[in-house]
Amino acid sequence: MKAVNAAEDRQRIQWLRQELEEHNHRYYILDQPIISDIEFDALMRELQDLEARYPEWEDPNSPSKRVGGGVVKGFETVYHQWPMLSLSNTYSIEELREFFDRIEKALGHLPEMVCELKYDGVAVGLRYREGQFERAVTRGDGEKGDDISENIRTLGSVPLCLKEHSWPAYFEARGEVYLPRAGFDKINAERLEQGLEPFANPRNTASGSLKMQDSGAVAKRPLDIFIYSLHSDEPLPASHSEALEQARRWGFRVPPAQWICLSDRPDELMEFMARTEALRPQLPFDIDGVVIKVNNLDIRQKLGFTAKSPRWAVAYKFQAEQALTRLNEVVYQVGRTGAITPVAQLEPVLLAGTTVKRASLHNADQIEKLDLRVGDWVYVEKGGEIIPKVTGVELDRRPEHSQPLHYATHCPECGTALERNPGEAQHYCPNRLECPPQILGRLEHFVSRKAMDIEGLGGETLDLLVRTGKIHRPSDLYTLSPASFDGLERMGAKTISNLIDGIERSKSQPFERVLFALGIRHVGETVAKKLCAHFGSLQAIRQATQEELLDTEEIGTVIAESVRSFFADPEQQREVEALVRAGLHTEAVEKVREGNALEGLTLVVSGSFERYGRDEIKELIEKHGGKVASGVSAKTHAVVAGSDMGPAKRKKATDLGVPIWSEAELEAHLGLGAEQG
Ligand code: IVH
Repeated sequence: MKAVNAAEDRQRIQWLRQELEEHNHRYYILDQPIISDIEFDALMRELQDLEARYPEWEDPNSPSKRVGGGVVKGFETVYHQWPMLSLSNTYSIEELREFFDRIEKALGHLPEMVCELKYDGVAVGLRYREGQFERAVTRGDGEKGDDISENIRTLGSVPLCLKEHSWPAYFEARGEVYLPRAGFDKINAERLEQGLEPFANPRNTASGSLKMQDSGAVAKRPLDIFIYSLHSDEPLPASHSEALEQARRWGFRVPPAQWICLSDRPDELMEFMARTEALRPQLPFDIDGVVIKVNNLDIRQKLGFTAKSPRWAVAYKFQAEQALTRLNEVVYQVGRTGAITPVAQLEPVLLAGTTVKRASLHNADQIEKLDLRVGDWVYVEKGGEIIPKVTGVELDRRPEHSQPLHYATHCPECGTALERNPGEAQHYCPNRLECPPQILGRLEHFVSRKAMDIEGLGGETLDLLVRTGKIHRPSDLYTLSPASFDGLERMGAKTISNLIDGIERSKSQPFERVLFALGIRHVGETVAKKLCAHFGSLQAIRQATQEELLDTEEIGTVIAESVRSFFADPEQQREVEALVRAGLHTEAVEKVREGNALEGLTLVVSGSFERYGRDEIKELIEKHGGKVASGVSAKTHAVVAGSDMGPAKRKKATDLGVPIWSEAELEAHLGLGAEQG
């Protein structure tokens, strides 16, 4: 009897899942619901009850998962199979003409173009396998992003199971997640009621929402999505407009309208632009321009990409919003590395929906270029950045007897005379070891997640430890004992022991993080990794000559000079010595050899891969005795090609008779295929 019931329940679960997805589609995509919210909720509750009874039939794509609830600690990094590039921006009809000229020159004619709105949100890639939602990834740095699948599942307009059956077995749909203005206003009204600071704008709120760790909280944010491209190794419709129509039939939310026009009539485009700009305030969501794209996908392929963006598309952005206000004062901020940033203090003014009181002035050159004076009426603009900038002065309103601005000569925090290196725009406070914001900034950087990752040591605790004289520089952290915290407020025994444990654990961080944590000017995470891979040890980096440093991949004179002067400074030497004594890693871990299958072979890696990042592929080759070269030549033994290997490289390899291996073929050479599945 029970078996019969179970079979019926199973059928009912399947029916409910399909039914609820269909209602979801009708509600979120078609905007034509046929049942009431109450009926929908009743079906959902029935499904949830059944699912609770049969955990063995759990399905990550069940509509019940849309309510969220899972809490993640961090987001997994995922490599993109097709790089996630950005668009080049244009702001004038001249730049737009140049874009068309370049296309015409490359093709000999002007192809059909599509115009779309440029939604102001967050780019995401949605991966589908066999018609089922598999993963959602943020753009990140274009090469790899964060896995935000749990959060994306809560968006009603993201289909979890696709309709029809004509989809490629594996593909990615990309689009923009945004927060409609009404939803944004509602969230802010609630925040105000709760005494919380309102959010700045819909875009940042959307982006912050997708990074929340509690998907249940994300489900409460009325986020939405527009899909603007499909990517697959399998065949797709021949043009962008057909691809989007296809995507619509599969159940995606695709923008309602696109305008197809011929690019030999930029006036038509201008008209489209003007109409869109007029429409802008009435749209229920924010846009920041229009996107103009070649429609035909073969033609796109012919045009190809630059390093950062496709040659077949361009964003034509609206002029940034501007406001005119008075400059009351210029103050100077001191950063962690001692870099000075001038900041304009303005008479508060309303700009793009927020009140602006401060604006960035970048550096002394910019102030001089603008001939900025206190009391001036200045133009403030808000572009893509969060901090507005001062872009010009209204000279007609300049007060009489105003005086040119004298840039700060001394550090506002410690009074030391500022310095400026030849060729650099920024001024610096050279008092690295005693200037308070630099002391604190250096410590904050040292303990931060991407550096030594010492949990529980937030800015406030560090500030307290610095103010009470317990620590002054990073190496002091390693001298702390439970007794050092005696008499400090808000520091219980448990907190203290967690802190000491965290500090102790940080000693196992690899050398590349230690190098990054030192806070050498211009040595970010990537540069630290490159230096570490090239030199292998702290000792070798310290002793490196300028020429040897310049030999490192991606390292130019400014970085090389900065590294040299850091290690030449006696104070820094003392600090580095103290860190070495504390037991931090100062040597790169030898790459463990895993085999000799590629001994003596030189391979070139090109494109992006399904199971590995490009660097991981290179590492894999090296671990098996192979060498990695950057360009294809007669000496290359094979090219390991990802999904989007450049046509030029492919041609060269074919011409030279160099074999091209897929990711799977490489694995087969290494005897890895089977286990990696
Ligand atoms: S197509 C190669 N179409 O703008 C990138 N992007 O700077 C092709 N965006 O990352 C993107 N609306 O997040 C495209 N209709 C649209 C868009 C759009 C907004 C965003 C997207 C992209 C950024 C480009």
